[in-house]
Amino acid sequence: MTMKKSLLLLTVAAVILTGVLYVNRRSEPAAVALPTGTEMVVYKSPTCGCCELWIDHAEEAGFTVVTEDVIDLRPVKAENGVTPELASCHTAIVGGYVIEGHVPADVIAQLLEERPDIRGLAVPGMPAGSPGMEGGTPEPYDVVAFDRDGNTSVYASRGE
Ligand code: CU
Ligand code: CU
Repeated sequence: MTMKKSLLLLTVAAVILTGVLYVNRRSEPAAVALPTGTEMVVYKSPTCGCCELWIDHAEEAGFTVVTEDVIDLRPVKAENGVTPELASCHTAIVGGYVIEGHVPADVIAQLLEERPDIRGLAVPGMPAGSPGMEGGTPEPYDVVAFDRDGNTSVYASRGE
C-alpha cells in the first residue's frame, strides 16, 4: 500500500467515525429527560379541584402519582419544612424532595436531574397560569427553592 493510499483510507475512516459519533450524540436523550414512572406522593384535600388538575399535569409528564387525601394539610406542611410563606394547596414528595403547590413538571425533572442540596421547591400561593391553574390571566411567578435552614432562592421563573 502506498503512503497516499493509506492516508486516504485513514481520512475515510476518520470521516465515518465522526459521522457515527455525531449520530450517537444526536440520539442521546435531552439533557433534562422527564423521569417516566418516577413515583410521587401527593398530599391534598379531598375537595381540591386544582390539585387534581396539577396531578393530571404530573401524570402526563410521566410521573406515577399516589394520592393521599388528608383533611388537615398543616401537619404535612410543617413536617416537610413548608412555611406559611411557601405554602400552596397540595404538598408532594418525589425523589426525596418536597414539592409544594403548582410547580411545573419540567422544573421537577430538572430538580431530579441536578439534585441540588435543597429540601424542595415551592410555587407559593396559586398563581394563575401555573400548571393546574390555567384559565385566568396568566401572571409571572417564581419556583422557589428552600433548604432545611429556612433559606430560599429562585430556582426558576415562569410566565414572563
Ligand atoms: Cu391549587
Ligand atoms: Cu393543589
